[in-house]
Amino acid sequence: MKELKIPPIKDGTVIDHITGGNAVKVLHILGIPKTTNVVSVAMNVKSKFGKKDIVKVENRELDPFEVDKIALIAPKATINIIRDYEVAEKHRVNLPDEIKGIVCCSNPTCVSNSKEPVKSRFKVISKDPLRIKCYYCEREPEDISERII
Ligand code: CTP
Ligand code: ZN
Repeated sequence: MKELKIPPIKDGTVIDHITGGNAVKVLHILGIPKTTNVVSVAMNVKSKFGKKDIVKVENRELDPFEVDKIALIAPKATINIIRDYEVAEKHRVNLPDEIKGIVCCSNPTCVSNSKEPVKSRFKVISKDPLRIKCYYCEREPEDISERII
């Protein structure tokens, strides 16, 4: 029998197959410290492909902007929308070719970090391992997960 680490939920979102250890970053992206929803987390659960984390948020369905952010730190994650205990929708997160307004450029003199109303913009130059390059100053941030706005 399949071992259940956290009980099933009635309604909400299950973010599954998060890269092991990255659940905390997913919680940060979802603004969890400020939420009043019930949230459960399992970290370093054994799975078919090594260790994974799982985050369950009750009574909330994620919006596409949040899903794009999750793709940056958990490229293999699945977003499961649960309605009345059933998996009503299952989506793989998708890494776009361009990332706009999600990551902050690591170059302090970049135009996207100036007072000008210029949103950050990166080209994805490699998906695995993830490498992105600033559209304006061509700087490649190394600590992408630390730079998510
Ligand atoms: N889940 C849940 N509550 C429910 C239904 C499902 O918390 N009422 C969780 C499951 O525990 C699992 C995820 O949602 O972590 C996806 O469920 P399901 O598609 O049934 O699992 P798998 O078939 O194992 O998914 P995958 O093939 O994506 O690994
Ligand atoms: Zn830049």
